[in-house]
Amino acid sequence: MLDAPVTGKRQVARGMFVIGMRAPEIASAVRAGQFVNLGWSGGPLLRRPFSVYRAEGEHIEVVLKAVGGGTGQMLALEVGDRLSCLGPLGRGFEFGGGAREAVLVSGGLGVAPMLLAARDARAAGMKVTWVHGARTAAELCAEKDGDAVIWATDDGSQGTPGTAVAAAPDADVVIACGPNRMLAAAAERWPEAQVAVETYMGCGTGVCLGCAVPLKRGGYDRACKEGPVYRAADVDWGALPSHLPYAVVA
Ligand SMILES: Cc1cc2nc3c(=O)[nH]c(=O)nc-3n(C[C@H](O)[C@H](O)[C@H](O)COP(=O)(O)OP(=O)(O)OC[C@H]3O[C@@H](n4cnc5c(N)ncnc54)[C@H](O)[C@@H]3O)c2cc1C
Ligand code: FES
Repeated sequence: MLDAPVTGKRQVARGMFVIGMRAPEIASAVRAGQFVNLGWSGGPLLRRPFSVYRAEGEHIEVVLKAVGGGTGQMLALEVGDRLSCLGPLGRGFEFGGGAREAVLVSGGLGVAPMLLAARDARAAGMKVTWVHGARTAAELCAEKDGDAVIWATDDGSQGTPGTAVAAAPDADVVIACGPNRMLAAAAERWPEAQVAVETYMGCGTGVCLGCAVPLKRGGYDRACKEGPVYRAADVDWGALPSHLPYAVVA
């Protein structure tokens, strides 16, 4: 567990902010799709999980919107305030296997793991196409990385009208993150896609069983240990709540 001072905050879309913190051990170890569990003085009893958005030198960043009490408090933090940071946690995306092209598909706050996914895919020798969708142009994250970038908006105000899933080309490797209903659509189209699933979380370390992900073969996994990245076809999407924060705000 790391005492991580806040080092910066910037806005990247309407209501969407990036918070930076100094966390050297996590910055050097984190892989795309892994997350940190964050607490702070005066914060909620349970830590809050966030994908690592960027890792550079001794610093990591997370991206968030205020969807409730905890995220609202986080956005009020100032440079120098301290976060208690647990991580990197969970199992990230896999980029082995000699594939030549990766398509990253993100909806709304689903951008969260994609900068690192672009980094890791490139390091594995892949060409990266990033497809990012949101309800409207103002909600598209302004920061992007990819050899090709495709935008999609539900209202057609920027890029391809419609969803990011519909706008995306096929590829050997497909990575997706966003509202669970978007991931269910991705699973229909690309059963082999790797998807970062959102659940409720408590401990973040495999103990409380509060992060159950229903599986197609029956039974449950722990998103914080066996996930949060899954093969799309393995998740029982109908049994997974679709009302979680990404779904509300994306
Ligand atoms: C692996 C993982 C990675 C995540 N990465 C990001 C990210 O990069 N950026 C981001 O903005 N959000 C991310 N989230 C979601 C984020 O953790 C929740 O939005 C946050 O916990 C809500 O806290 P709150 O106190 O603001 O909300 P609350 O006031 O507690 O509740 C607001 C809403 O959030 C739901 N909620 C509360 N606690 C959790 C929880 N621990 N997990 C899921 N839903 C919860 C409630 O049911 C309610 O619908 C991630 C979640 C997981 C599981
Ligand atoms: S959050 Fe406690 S077991 Fe996963």
